[in-house]
Amino acid sequence: MRTKGGNFERWRLRARHSRHAVRTVDVLRSRSLRHSRRLAVPRPSAVAPFAVRALTFRFMRFASITGWGSAMPPAVLSNADLSTFLDTSDEWITTRTGMKERRISHVSAVELSTVAAARALACAGLDARDVDLVVYGSCSFEEQVPNAASAVQKALGAEGAAAMDLNTACTSFLYGLTAASGMIRTGVVRCAVVIGVELISRYIDWSNRNVAVLFGDGAAAVVLQPSDTESGVIGALLGCDTEARASLRVRGVGLGYGGRGITLGDTSWDFDGQVIFKRAVVAMCESSSRVLAQCGVSADDVSVMVPHQANLRIIEAVAKYAGMPMDKVVLTVQRYGNMSAATVPVALVEALEAGRVHPGSLLLMTGFGGGLTWASLIVRWGDRVTPLGTSSRELPPCTKSALEMVNEIRATQDPHGRSACGLAQPV
Ligand code: ACO
Repeated sequence: MRTKGGNFERWRLRARHSRHAVRTVDVLRSRSLRHSRRLAVPRPSAVAPFAVRALTFRFMRFASITGWGSAMPPAVLSNADLSTFLDTSDEWITTRTGMKERRISHVSAVELSTVAAARALACAGLDARDVDLVVYGSCSFEEQVPNAASAVQKALGAEGAAAMDLNTACTSFLYGLTAASGMIRTGVVRCAVVIGVELISRYIDWSNRNVAVLFGDGAAAVVLQPSDTESGVIGALLGCDTEARASLRVRGVGLGYGGRGITLGDTSWDFDGQVIFKRAVVAMCESSSRVLAQCGVSADDVSVMVPHQANLRIIEAVAKYAGMPMDKVVLTVQRYGNMSAATVPVALVEALEAGRVHPGSLLLMTGFGGGLTWASLIVRWGDRVTPLGTSSRELPPCTKSALEMVNEIRATQDPHGRSACGLAQPV
């Protein structure tokens, strides 16, 4: 075992001028150590000192959130704007959802993600070349292949880093955070950027008031790095309530709609708001309670709750069930609406910028999304709550109003034409 460890050290030294070679060697070493762990456990005295030290380092460390940043499109779409083309009102939207405004992006989801990720890296005091993994959590994709994470990796300058798209709808960021934390804790990667982003304005059915008033665009990202002190995701529960899978479906995007004469960009949403509402409340309440119990903490120990922001009434119901006073709950739903995968990270960034998160704070993050997927995480914050640096990356100026951009998208949709036939067929 000593010989094997020594060999790896020599390879590592030989490869020290190549970042990717070092990464490969690290992965090989961690695989070998996993194997040596299985062999070594029954006879601990037989394990060489090198292997024992390395095992402790590899398997006991945490994945701390060391950087954070968001990229919110500047154009604001108000409830009054929506009333110009939908049979709706500020009064209905505000009382049923809590929403007043949402953002409409003038740039692509990749561009939003790249700015958010650059800001998160600067906050962590890191360079894009330090990144080993980019996770793009979203259901907004420009192409089937190549994936969006690879485009962000390229635009960011994170040359050679692994790039992974992850789509669990609104919970994509929470699933991505859990997955990337696991990869860091097992030594597969050392620095991960996890993005939650959505560009729903491009494929929402703007003719349907049941959905068009609910969603908005945005992006945020966090940086994860290994830590030996307890921090990052310390408890996670993930699941999926597939009985209600049909309650939320975006028709018109995906291979199942090929060859049906559907106008590109035209969609029709199956959306049973009341079913989603009830199941979301149950899933978020139950998983929040269970993850708190799993971590041996109570609602009183939690400093900040960062819930998915689909509806103010859902958030209030979940907070009440969890025994969480509303002053501990981060709310963005009034200003940004439901940004799907971007809601939780954007709310997290706002909580940090508002000074609501302190070193060692416990955070409860909970959400649900199409599928119907759900997730609840307990995060222990690390030592630092202020950025180490800032990024010079900015979104380009926006020259149009949100309503102008929405009207342009509406003009490309075909709600009552030939698409209606293709969109209505079963998938
Ligand atoms: N403006 C005016 N009236 C409206 C609008 C609107 N924008 N939308 C619906 N209505 C009408 C309906 O047509 C209905 O009229 P009717 O009584 O004449 O039939 C009436 O308002 C009441 O509709 P309900 O569906 O009963 O309204 P409800 O109080 O359930 O609120 C809502 C609807 C806001 C959609 C709610 O059910 C909800 O928030 N559900 C969860 C949505 C959600 O979580 N979405 C995210 C899914 S997962 C993800 O995040 C991707």
